[in-house]
Amino acid sequence: MKPEGFHEITPQDTPEKKINVGVLGYGFMGKVHSNSLLKIPYTYKTPPVFPLLIAMGGRNLENVKDTARRFGFRGVYIHWEDMVLDPDIEVFDICTPDHQHAGPSIAAAKEGKHVLCEKPMALTVDEAKQMWQHADAAGITHMCNYNYRFVPAVRLARRLLEDGALGTIYQFRVCYLQEAGRLPSTPLDDIWYASGTASGVLLGIGSHALDMARFLVGDIVKITGLKKTFTPVRRNLDGKEAQVNTDEGNMALLEFANGAVGTMESSAVSSGRKNQLTWEINGSKGSMKFDIEDLNHLYVCLEETTRPDVRGFTKISVTSPEHPLQCLHLPPGHNSGWEYSHVHAMAHFLDCASKNTSVAPYGATFYDGYVVQVLMEAIGQSMENGQKVDIETLLAIK
Ligand SMILES: NC(=O)c1ccc[n+]([C@@H]2O[C@H](COP(=O)([O-])OP(=O)(O)OC[C@H]3O[C@@H](n4cnc5c(N)ncnc54)[C@H](O)[C@@H]3O)[C@@H](O)[C@H]2O)c1
Repeated sequence: MKPEGFHEITPQDTPEKKINVGVLGYGFMGKVHSNSLLKIPYTYKTPPVFPLLIAMGGRNLENVKDTARRFGFRGVYIHWEDMVLDPDIEVFDICTPDHQHAGPSIAAAKEGKHVLCEKPMALTVDEAKQMWQHADAAGITHMCNYNYRFVPAVRLARRLLEDGALGTIYQFRVCYLQEAGRLPSTPLDDIWYASGTASGVLLGIGSHALDMARFLVGDIVKITGLKKTFTPVRRNLDGKEAQVNTDEGNMALLEFANGAVGTMESSAVSSGRKNQLTWEINGSKGSMKFDIEDLNHLYVCLEETTRPDVRGFTKISVTSPEHPLQCLHLPPGHNSGWEYSHVHAMAHFLDCASKNTSVAPYGATFYDGYVVQVLMEAIGQSMENGQKVDIETLLAIK
């Protein structure tokens, strides 16, 4: 019996729109996505939709149960083939490794579920294209989780570009640098991009860099690239020698449809770089630069607004109500962290899914995910034949 003065909250008190979500995978991203789902009602003054955590999927019953109960999921599955048939799941969220994206994605789309899939879309262009085409045919809402699009500073940059604040874009350079493979002595089993079924640095983090390039500057029409494995043979934890079958670093020259040119680089052998995604854009009216390790700030240099004696980059704290994605109830200057890119990404996706609309232009659709896959294949082709690859031609035949 409650003491007098207690007022019960009933379902009638929470009339907000709700959406039922299933999360496949309970590793790094499975946890990040589940945390994001729980944070949506906390983050937004008026949440676009309230997610209900219906089921989590994995392969080991005890392990998936242990994670699922921490986040308050109602149940678990150990076969995604069963999970996609759950009639209560409206949104299927895929957080499995890259080689386990296509199967669940296509099956969930066929069941009419809205599909969110972690990046990169798939291992190959063919898989990515099938995922996009099945999603398109099913008429569902789909998004490939290029979450860096949802960092407020990146969205402010995009707004400035849409407003023409930088004029004609001349150059863009983007780097995504990490260090897991810097030491030849690190066992292959301990290297995220090369162990087991892992698919390499270009797919792992270069994909984010290529998506940033498209998100900020636009379509890429030509690409020249190379990939490199710096330590082709390592030892496993059991001491046995093992081939490194993936790239450990890569570079590309980019030519954009709007006449801009750029460079893209991603690496996992960059000592001192934990998780550094940086980019810089130069245009006829100014420049902007960004670093994910300093994600609350955008650095802007505008030719027309700065006095000659202080001309240069201004550090903008992107934490105020006038900035994009400022739904946090935190006052200006109260910084948010990396996970919030996922909270905003998921809130946007669920909002669109609840209305069955496209996530474009701010979210990456499966078509965008497929185009990034084509760009990555083009880098491989260019590496093999030493030639510049025409992306329109590749899109037409792939
Ligand atoms: N957007 C980002 O910021 C970001 C960051 C890291 C990873 N990723 C991507 O997220 C995906 C997952 O990466 P991760 O780091 O979370 O991997 P992880 O290894 O930590 O977790 C993968 C999960 O998938 C489960 N799994 C594997 N095969 C399965 C199957 N057949 N059926 C059901 N469950 C299965 C594993 O048990 C595990 O729970 C990858 O595609 C990766 O590229 C995205």
